[in-house]
Amino acid sequence: MGVSNIVSVFLLLVLINLSSNNIKGIEAFHKVYEKLQSQSVESVNPLHRSAFHFQPPKHWINDPNGPLYYKGFYHLFYQYNTKGAVWGNIVWAHSISKDLVNWEALEHALYPSKWFDVKGTWSGSITIVPGKGPIILYTGVNKNETQLQNYAIPEDPSDPYLRKWIKPDDNPIAMPDYTMNGSAFRDPTTAWFSKDGHWRTVVGSRRKHRGIAYIYRSRDFKHWVKAKHPVHSKESTGMWECPDFFPVSTTDFENGLDLDYVGPNTKHVLKVSLDITRFEYYTLGKYDPKKDRYVPDGNSPDGWEGLRFDYGNFYASKTFFDYKKNRRILWGWANESDTVEDDISKGWAGLQVIPRTVLLDSNKRHLVFWPIEEIESLRGNYVRMNNQNIKMGQRLEVKGITPAQADVEVTFNIPSLEKAETFDPSFKLKPLELCKMKGSNVTGGVGPFGLITLATPDLEEYTPVFFRVFKDTSTHKPKVLMCSDARPSSLKQDRGPLKQDKMYKPSFAGFVDVDLADGRISLRSLIDHSVIESFGALGKTVITSRVYPVKAVKENAHLYVFNNGTQIVNVESLNAWSMQRPLQMNNGAQ
Ligand code: FRU
Repeated sequence: MGVSNIVSVFLLLVLINLSSNNIKGIEAFHKVYEKLQSQSVESVNPLHRSAFHFQPPKHWINDPNGPLYYKGFYHLFYQYNTKGAVWGNIVWAHSISKDLVNWEALEHALYPSKWFDVKGTWSGSITIVPGKGPIILYTGVNKNETQLQNYAIPEDPSDPYLRKWIKPDDNPIAMPDYTMNGSAFRDPTTAWFSKDGHWRTVVGSRRKHRGIAYIYRSRDFKHWVKAKHPVHSKESTGMWECPDFFPVSTTDFENGLDLDYVGPNTKHVLKVSLDITRFEYYTLGKYDPKKDRYVPDGNSPDGWEGLRFDYGNFYASKTFFDYKKNRRILWGWANESDTVEDDISKGWAGLQVIPRTVLLDSNKRHLVFWPIEEIESLRGNYVRMNNQNIKMGQRLEVKGITPAQADVEVTFNIPSLEKAETFDPSFKLKPLELCKMKGSNVTGGVGPFGLITLATPDLEEYTPVFFRVFKDTSTHKPKVLMCSDARPSSLKQDRGPLKQDKMYKPSFAGFVDVDLADGRISLRSLIDHSVIESFGALGKTVITSRVYPVKAVKENAHLYVFNNGTQIVNVESLNAWSMQRPLQMNNGAQ
């Protein structure tokens, strides 16, 4: 069999495997439940609602839209169903904050009202245009279900709340031409201004199975022309939703860059959200502004094996440049994992992850993500552990905090890597399968070790987040796997009438790019009732899981640090805090 045949067979197997894993959304785009989308919510079940994540009081939310910092306020817009707990009736809901922690809801910024968005005000972004103020670019859907790019302007740009938005009548600013797919043309990025006097924005698309990012140019932010070639595309990746395109510095690993930054020491990041599987990937590469072409670095895998901002329940993400603190901040939608019936009975679905700073790792091979520092203002009760050896099979409880609502940071010290299992090179493309095969209870050499979150003391329910270290005999380097395993997370029985409508309990996985030269590796988890965001090795690999325990809830949830590897590991330090609720969380969004 030739190499290309082997690759095709492999891709086919991946697809079969994804569907047998019951990856939600495999049928592409949001599922439409005609009746349920406008079924009003009688009451909201608070059991699995988050305490410190952004979440409106009820109903469905999806993508973060148009995040920005403007005149002293952070703004977050988001896709929101005004009428129910499944996708539909989408508007741009709007909240503001001074600190990215406490949020206040304002009236909806955009909702279907004009011929160019009568069937939808979908995702988009905001650009601050000098002399004009903030301008929204968003996707409108017309009565024929064709997707169009539109703009909206604030009624009063001097209003720091940006309460009212106008959709001028000279919309749309871009329509699909005859070469394009009108139902796959959406989610314009924040625009940037180039030396040649043009604004540019990127729009996601697809031609057959090829994912495409088009670039549009404009001198006045009104008349936009498509560049001759897509800025980038990739075969067999399907629709590219919610593209994000931004520079990162290759010399300054502490500050973010604004979009129009031009300098010698930069790389670009192109992130796309893959409709087929509902996960995202990104590449690092070079953007050539003269040719309007982006080329991923040779060692940055482009396609299904691409790097991810987050290897878990995380989609439709979007970054913005916070010029108050010179940082690039990432927002992302943590979609639900339970059934549609459960979403309906909960009365809500979806939340936003804690915003994360985004920087290039000093090894320049990937990005690193870290929860914004402001979230630490919610830390309450504090406990610590130091220099504690954990033998195989041991599990130590972290007591004295609220484990269902906590921030925990632990640094492990591994005295020796000698016992590490040999890494079989065929594992390479399959961290998911590896975590599935080698769960937290499967004894290894070095690891599995890590945290057991949202657990009952008898481990009837628990969500382990852990590392397992292998020896890669070809590179003579350790190969570190990180897993966040939702399989044992809930005893709840599936009750959906639809066969495939089961709670989604995957064992999420990613490799961590560390050499363990000093024997140390850290893990931080933000635990918030039904969401666990975990940051391996200071954010080199991030995994978010959504879980719905029935027993390990509220004060009945426990937190442990564990080791199931034959090699003793040392908890050099563990710091854990109870997390408080923000004083104000999106009060009043309807
Ligand atoms: C991503 C997405 C976008 C679209 C929006 C509609 O989740 O499908 O492509 O603009 O959601 O709500």
